[in-house]
Amino acid sequence: MTNTRVLSLNNLSKRFGSVVANDAVSIELHRGEVLALLGENGAGKTTLMNMLFGHYLPDGGSIDVADESGDMRPLTLGHPQAALEAGIGMVHQHFTLAENLTVLDSILLGSESLLAWRHKRKAARAKVGRIMQRTGLTVGLDEQIGKLTVGERQRVEILKALYHDARILVLDEPTAVLTPQEADTLFENIGAMTKDGLSVIFISHKLREVLAFSHRISVLRHGKLVGEIATSDADERVIARMMVGADTPTTPREAMAPGAPVLALKTTTVKGDSARTSLHAVDLTIHAHEIVGIAGVSGNGQSALARLVSGLATPDSGELLISGKPIHRFTPPVMQKAGVGRIPEDRHHDGIIGAMSVAENLVIERLRDSDVQKYGFLQQNSIRSHAQDLCKDYDVRGPGIDADARLLSGGNIQKLILARVFECMPDLILANQPTRGLDMGAAAEVARRLLEARARGAGVLLISEDLDEVLALSDRIIVIHDGQLHEAHTNDREAIGLMMAGEQA
Ligand SMILES: Nc1ncnc2c1ncn2[C@@H]1O[C@H](COP(=O)(O)OP(=O)(O)OP(=O)(O)O)[C@@H](O)[C@H]1O
Ligand SMILES: [Mg+2]
Repeated sequence: MTNTRVLSLNNLSKRFGSVVANDAVSIELHRGEVLALLGENGAGKTTLMNMLFGHYLPDGGSIDVADESGDMRPLTLGHPQAALEAGIGMVHQHFTLAENLTVLDSILLGSESLLAWRHKRKAARAKVGRIMQRTGLTVGLDEQIGKLTVGERQRVEILKALYHDARILVLDEPTAVLTPQEADTLFENIGAMTKDGLSVIFISHKLREVLAFSHRISVLRHGKLVGEIATSDADERVIARMMVGADTPTTPREAMAPGAPVLALKTTTVKGDSARTSLHAVDLTIHAHEIVGIAGVSGNGQSALARLVSGLATPDSGELLISGKPIHRFTPPVMQKAGVGRIPEDRHHDGIIGAMSVAENLVIERLRDSDVQKYGFLQQNSIRSHAQDLCKDYDVRGPGIDADARLLSGGNIQKLILARVFECMPDLILANQPTRGLDMGAAAEVARRLLEARARGAGVLLISEDLDEVLALSDRIIVIHDGQLHEAHTNDREAIGLMMAGEQA
């Protein structure tokens, strides 16, 4: 890393209605530097990066970017094309690649016309090959995007940015969807890229990786830059304080005797799209007052299990009982009536309807109730006052209860879902990756609510790739591998890790 400046954000501000998403934020980036951008959900991180990338026009401030010879030049604001040409690449958290294209075509797409690109494919293939060799980011150029894992798709997104000569790369929560192993590989690759002079800004809620892989940390709080620190001077506690202005409380998990079974699977089989992603004749019991954590690398049958318990899949054989009653028809409303509350994995797509208001999303699973609907008309007054109460109780912050739910930050969407689920007092809670992408405060809040539900007598099926979370919350840990469940009988991180990799303890 050198001290040569490559980017400076100068007093950038952005408002959305009454929300000040960024308030005169100034940040500098140097050549070869890895800068971690931290802050609570809704602190304004994505907004800031969207201004850098030209997606949003700032209300005030300016941006300077170094050109190829190192001279700082003002960037034309609000134009993604200008940002691209200035050497800025961005990898969004939700990937944007078309499923049916090959890797090479995806990388080229957008830079050349269809015809021109037929001629240039050979040169392009060679250029991408050189980039792969230098950075270690390898992926088969003729593979179809639809066949790649999430980690591979992300590699394609990064390769695409590098192919377009990015000198500054922005990664918005790049590891939120990766396994721990994929995340480590990503950071090794980033290390190789920065040796080439690339500068990186990455957004993350995972302090462990921030401490291990960044050079410097900038922290946003309520839209303002509240601190910058060299990573070598930081530890988890220092950063947490900068982010929230106080220590994050953790809820202790008190010992509790399990009650009656709320979920029972009896030699239940659910077919996924491959043997690995199916559930094979599994037995599982979860009791009242009990949190059972399912640990495992994604793609080992977790989604079949989650779909089954949500009522989105029907077992091919075997049984499922909720609070002792066998379920015969599998649909989400049937499961919900039986007492299952669902915190879905993909909160943006399965958790909310983005184009409906926050208030409406809070009653979406109760549309037939009389306080919500009468004679086919939505009861707006009662829906709104209900929303006001819930948003206060669950601290859902954002542009207000009448705004579209899609405008909430990730953490606030999750709080909305929690409010909706917990309000119905379910006997069984399916919590699928409940803290993915959440800041420490929001994650602690999810943990507190799950423990509260357990104390009240609910059973919780916690599916998580975050082993630390499973360890912290679970009364019992079950490892899922190749569609089979194995009780861990231990709290040892390493032993569980080995089981996750398929080695029998
Ligand atoms: N297009 C928009 N319209 C209205 N409000 C918005 C819009 N985009 C963001 N906001 C609001 O601006 C604030 C900052 O949001 P932003 O997405 O930048 O947060 P973040 O730091 O990236 O959070 P997270 O960690 O949850 O991703 C939030 O209060 C959010 O609700
Ligand atoms: Mg964000």
